[in-house]
Order: sequence, then C-alpha cells, then structure tokens
Amino acid sequence: MQLPIAVLVSGSGSNLQAIIDAAASDGDFGASIVTVIADRPGVRGLERAVAAGIPTRVVPWAGAATRRTFTGAVCDAAEQAGAQALVLAGFMRILTREAVDRFPNRILNIHPALLPAFPGAHGVRDALDHGVKVTGVTVHFVDEHVDHGPIIAQRAVPVDQQDTEESLHARIQSEEHDLFPEVVKAFAHGRLRVEGRTVVWEGASS
Ligand code: GAR
Repeated sequence: MQLPIAVLVSGSGSNLQAIIDAAASDGDFGASIVTVIADRPGVRGLERAVAAGIPTRVVPWAGAATRRTFTGAVCDAAEQAGAQALVLAGFMRILTREAVDRFPNRILNIHPALLPAFPGAHGVRDALDHGVKVTGVTVHFVDEHVDHGPIIAQRAVPVDQQDTEESLHARIQSEEHDLFPEVVKAFAHGRLRVEGRTVVWEGASS
C-alpha cells in the first residue's frame, strides 16, 4: 500500500524531481505522488510533473480572495486527488491553520537553513548576511506557525568565505535532494512519531 501524497511547488521543483526519482528507483519507497499543486501556472515544477505523468493542479495565489480561501482550495485539490499528506517542496505560500487541521502531522516542509535560525522566505541570504559559518537544511512537520513545527531531520552545510547566495544555495540543495526523499520514505513507512516538539525515528539506532 502506497501513501498517496500531494507535492506543492512554487518554482523550479528540483526537490519534487528528487522525490519523483526516488519513487521511481526505489521499489520500497512507500509513497506515490497523486498530484502536484502549484500556486501559479508556468513553473518548471509543473513541467517536471507532466514529464513524469503526474496529474497537476494550479491553485492561483494571484486572484485568491484571502489566505483562507487559498488554503481551502489547496486542501480541496489535494483531497480530490486522494492525497493523505502534503509535501511542501519549495512552496512559498503560508497556509492557514485549516491545512494543519485537515492534515495534522501530515504536512512536511523543507527549509534551506537550520531552523529555528533564519525562518522565512530568504533563509540562505539571511544566514549569509548574518555571517554564520555553518547553515544547512531542515525538514519539519508544519504546524500553525511559520517554519516552526517539530523538526524531522537536519543536515549541516559549511559556509565558504567566497560563497554567494547562489553558490551556498546550490550546496544546500544538493543536501536537500538527498534528505527530503529519505524523510518522505520514512514518513510513508510510518516511522516518524511526534512526541511534543520531538520527532522520534522508529527503528533508528540512535
Ligand atoms: C528549496 O531550496 C527549499 O528549501 C526552499 O525553496 C527551494 C525550492 O527549490 N524553500 C524555502 O525557502 C521555504 N521557505 P526547488 O523548487 O528547486 O525544489
């Protein structure tokens, strides 16, 4: 039995691609992407979905009356496709509490910094501007606050003196592409248990 998931994108969709590739190459992946939802038309992430034969939906942010109606439409689209969980893969819109209520501990997000440091839309730039020597990637469950829910996994990425936002983001993304499919697989297999703010990996040695 495969866990049906909706992947939400706003842009390039390289993390979506990593999940598509993992699902295709790993017979034990445990999750199946039943729809890819974007907040605007024409993004590369939608093209990647079409190329993989995955149904797509656009729920336009531009034109949505309120964040509330937008959130409801996104959840409706996911449910209509049969999704039981949402995977936010570079989805740059904040959903309201309704999404958390409809998919409790069933929304995963990836963020390009070591949360709780540098939340928000510019995690890479903010870390660089702050002068940190190490930043990284966080995958977490979504709760009612932005970039705040229980942390599932993190990877550190050292900052080089010569780094630009682009060069640092590229190294962060290469970690993302490895980590996010691993987390989605663990989630699909029911191996992630949430205890308060802590996520316990069942069956892990440490
Ligand atoms: C990723 O690096 C992801 O961590 C980031 O957007 C990028 C999307 O890339 N997400 C955020 O900044 C969320 N606050 P992709 O579209 O190529 O997967």
